[in-house]
Amino acid sequence: MKLFLDTANRELIKKWVPTGLVDGVTTNPSLLLKEGSSTKEVLLDICKMVEGDVSIEVVEKDPDAVFKQAIEISKLAKNVVVKIPFQENYLPVIHKLVKEGIKINVTLIFSVIQSVLVAKLGVKYISPFVGRWDDIDIDGMEVLENIIIAKQNYDFDSEILAASIRSVIHLQKAILMGVDVATIPPLLLEKVFSHPLTKEGIIKFDSDWAKLGKKNLFE
Ligand code: E4P
Repeated sequence: MKLFLDTANRELIKKWVPTGLVDGVTTNPSLLLKEGSSTKEVLLDICKMVEGDVSIEVVEKDPDAVFKQAIEISKLAKNVVVKIPFQENYLPVIHKLVKEGIKINVTLIFSVIQSVLVAKLGVKYISPFVGRWDDIDIDGMEVLENIIIAKQNYDFDSEILAASIRSVIHLQKAILMGVDVATIPPLLLEKVFSHPLTKEGIIKFDSDWAKLGKKNLFE
């Protein structure tokens, strides 16, 4: 399973890359808005900071302009994946881009049918948004599970990238479902590390080591 960081914050990416856990990064216009500075500079920096795939979303609206921008984005760096929202009039664009060998992440996926349609086009990633379903009181994890079943039924090459992951439970369930990739906000990654029983265990080991009264382990 691959783990992507769902952020455009360079400081946070820099913090997590040395852990060896970051297989890629996903960005979107809302995440870029939080960063303020030149978007091109931010995106180029991120592409240099990680070895794995970096998803960069198109912001043009007209299909021809989306195609042109997708080509531009794909040329930014070797590890770029062009993120395109699911929309009927973008399907011919996605089809053409895939045929040109451009890696595509189709974003804003909310149903099994949407995911199967874009898998047929041969996109690299399909991004179902779990949390946004939950926001409107529908079980996003159930939708994700059905998308994984559809992928297994037809043995699609596209990878299922669980997005809009908002909690440790989301992440845990996505892992148990066998999702290919989970993109998670850095804050959530921090939460995964801070388990109360792990903290308690460390305190106990430290205190017992101190009771031994030794200067080093091999004394
Ligand atoms: C990542 O590709 C998505 O853009 C992101 O996970 C969306 O998350 P949100 O629903 O919490 O904004």
